[in-house]
Amino acid sequence: MTTPAYLTQHQNRFLEELMDWLRIPSVSADPKFHGDVLRAADFLKARLEEAGAANVELCSTAGNPIVYGEYFVGPDRPTVLVYGHYDVQPADPYELWNSPPFEPVIQDGNIYARGACDDKGQVYMHVKALEMMLRDGGAGVPCNLKFMFEGEEEVGSDNLGIFVKANQEKLKADVILISDTGILANDVPSIEVGLRGLSYHEVEVTGPNRDLHSGLYGGAVLNPINALCDMISSLHDADCHITIPGFYDNVAELSPAERAELAQAPFSEADFKQSIGLPAAVGEKGFTTPERTSIRPTLDVNGIWGGYIGEGAKTVIPGKAFAKISMRLVPHQTSDEITALFQKHFASIAPAGVTVQVRPHHGGEPVVTPTDSAAYRAAAKALTTTFGKAPVPTRGGGSIPIVAMFKSELGLDSVLLGFGLDSDAIHSPNEHFGVFNFLKGIETIPEFYKEYAAAR
Ligand code: BES
Ligand code: MN
Ligand code: MN
Repeated sequence: MTTPAYLTQHQNRFLEELMDWLRIPSVSADPKFHGDVLRAADFLKARLEEAGAANVELCSTAGNPIVYGEYFVGPDRPTVLVYGHYDVQPADPYELWNSPPFEPVIQDGNIYARGACDDKGQVYMHVKALEMMLRDGGAGVPCNLKFMFEGEEEVGSDNLGIFVKANQEKLKADVILISDTGILANDVPSIEVGLRGLSYHEVEVTGPNRDLHSGLYGGAVLNPINALCDMISSLHDADCHITIPGFYDNVAELSPAERAELAQAPFSEADFKQSIGLPAAVGEKGFTTPERTSIRPTLDVNGIWGGYIGEGAKTVIPGKAFAKISMRLVPHQTSDEITALFQKHFASIAPAGVTVQVRPHHGGEPVVTPTDSAAYRAAAKALTTTFGKAPVPTRGGGSIPIVAMFKSELGLDSVLLGFGLDSDAIHSPNEHFGVFNFLKGIETIPEFYKEYAAAR
């Protein structure tokens, strides 16, 4: 399809506005950015109003506000609830960025900034799609729309969970639309039809009651760092299976036909390795790389610390060692079940000479979204129109904790109409979002509404 004239005419302004928003460091994990998080919410509220949304408000929560707005056309039309998040991951380590994370630049067709792809750039596509539908030459809005953008996705969405439970009537809709995932490549459109869940823990291993001289005590006491390393390495066997008893009990095994279907999505092992500078891909025996990152559960250490890490050498046996350990979950594992299994197992493998504490963080449930629904078909048609090619369904590896709750609390399925690429470096230094992808999103979203309204 040819790019709408309005989009071509206004794309530079759209990009400027997005860059203004990206300049606000809306980092939810770090309290020192709290004022910026609030400013980012205000900015979004103002832009949503300007675009033409009605009843735009900031809904306060125990944490960061939810930006909410509506556009009603008529009771005969289906209602789409658009969800996204305006908070971003911390930008650390700053020194690895080629340009400062909160001073966006466009280079080689990409917008570089923290949040460019995850998720401010993708949320902004929805704001500009609304503007485009409502301005001169726009087709109007064919569905009732509700917008709900939160500021705590990157820290687990606990307060949004409470808000959703308390506002069932306000959030009544026919389907949820989310742009916070990706496509396989700019010439390979795809729709993610699954997200993994999460069980996240901080562990603390305690040895002697103070740091010790490693000459005076070394050899006679168990070093908590050594113990922690042993415990962690015992969590996988030689086949990269996770050794926690019962861990796989509820894992949905896919049939050969389902696996063959997913294997239709184009994938190059060589490109995969090359793109992240690795000589080999390593993972669970019996599964392909795309399977390992989507339909299989995993366990990873996300951080580990303890002892002396300053300049030079210090001969010390530390009193404590720490790690952050998380597990990605797949249907039909549940976060509570895996959290309990992990806590019990990790405590049970503590060797004599140390004690262990496990503190669970936020979790999230895995989801699979239907492909035999009017909304999925509308998304597939929309992408076919704007990319000139039918999308393939893929199972995603990331997590968006609220999606399972949309199903359990509101009874609503989600469509994951995301436009990022794995190579966009979300959560990493030099996060970026293609200008192509931003504009394709703005073009595709109205097509989705058109197809969805027509199908119902
Ligand atoms: N947008 C991502 C999740 C994502 C990215 C899904 C790419 C599929 C493809 C989201 O913002 C995110 O980062 N989620 C966190 C979970 C959260 C509880 C911190 C994640 O997946 O680690
Ligand atoms: Mn996100
Ligand atoms: Mn994220």
